[in-house]
Amino acid sequence: MRILSGIQPSGALHIGNYFGAIRQYIALQEEHEAFYFIANYHALTSVRDAATMRRNTFDAFVDLLALGLDPAKATLFVQSDVPETVELAWLLTTVTPMGWLEKCVSFKDKVQQGIPAEHGLFAYPVLMAADILLYDADLVPVGQDQRQHLEITRDVAERFNNVYGPAEVFRLPKPYILDNVAVVPGLDGRKMSKSYGNTIEIFDDPAVIKKKVKKIVTDSAPVEAPKDPDKCSLMALYRLFAGAEDLDDVERRYREGGIGYGEMKTRLADAIIARFDGPRALRAEWVADPDRVAKVRAEGAERAHAAARTVLARARTACGMA
Ligand code: TYM
Repeated sequence: MRILSGIQPSGALHIGNYFGAIRQYIALQEEHEAFYFIANYHALTSVRDAATMRRNTFDAFVDLLALGLDPAKATLFVQSDVPETVELAWLLTTVTPMGWLEKCVSFKDKVQQGIPAEHGLFAYPVLMAADILLYDADLVPVGQDQRQHLEITRDVAERFNNVYGPAEVFRLPKPYILDNVAVVPGLDGRKMSKSYGNTIEIFDDPAVIKKKVKKIVTDSAPVEAPKDPDKCSLMALYRLFAGAEDLDDVERRYREGGIGYGEMKTRLADAIIARFDGPRALRAEWVADPDRVAKVRAEGAERAHAAARTVLARARTACGMA
């Protein structure tokens, strides 16, 4: 089975990205052929400064390496190192009905937040379809917010296959979304997202992590009051970090009363800092050796290129470009 997924370098990676996607990237690289990339073409829809784009791309690349992505097992590359992606996006665009893009929740959501409704933002799902189809991906590990994009990817692939068949040009991919981490909540209880400004970054300074955790919104129940652990963002985040025994204990204290939000915030901040301690040290090693990072990037580009060329040739032949 072939695995593929991408992550935008539109800012520092946060713990929603980690639990919703990156942790699955790392687990899946063990048993499958995997391709992971930094989606910088996609990030052009929000980052408009070349130096920032380069820095974010480098940062996201080393974040993935530090978190356990192993270039000996998986192919890690930068999207724009494989410009075939944009050629395929054009071929797909010509068979994509406007109506499919008009109904996209993520487009509507971004425009509502005041992001200009540019064509790139509108056509974003077609570029994403190109990313996925270009590598004959079977399974795409993502968070819940990408489900609709995966549906469009399948629809576009089927449409192209039907228009230019009978031979199947594209393989139909499936999303891989784990229920318990499909939507990781942010500081305000909404989905953790850069565009909502409610994130905790994976590699934030420990002091910053503590400060952010203190801001997590709770009700005003006193320490001794019984509380529902299923209705608390603090608990929702704590579940991602705690071991089973510790979790049982904390949930019992929630229900019986006797645990306060202050204690929970300290526990959560400590757990986040401890979890990413090892990766933080590894990250510093990668950052100190940019030549090594550049070598991994070049090797990844080469492997990705080889896979992409095969599929693009099939698509070009099918529609008479070659
Ligand atoms: P992006 O960069 O916004 O997020 C990267 C991954 O993190 C997941 N994620 C979350 N999961 C759970 N809870 C959250 N709060 C949370 N926030 C983010 C996202 O679902 C995603 O899996 N369009 C994609 C990037 C992309 C892509 C692709 C993905 C471009 N081409 C091809 C897969 C395949 C995006 O904006 O993800």
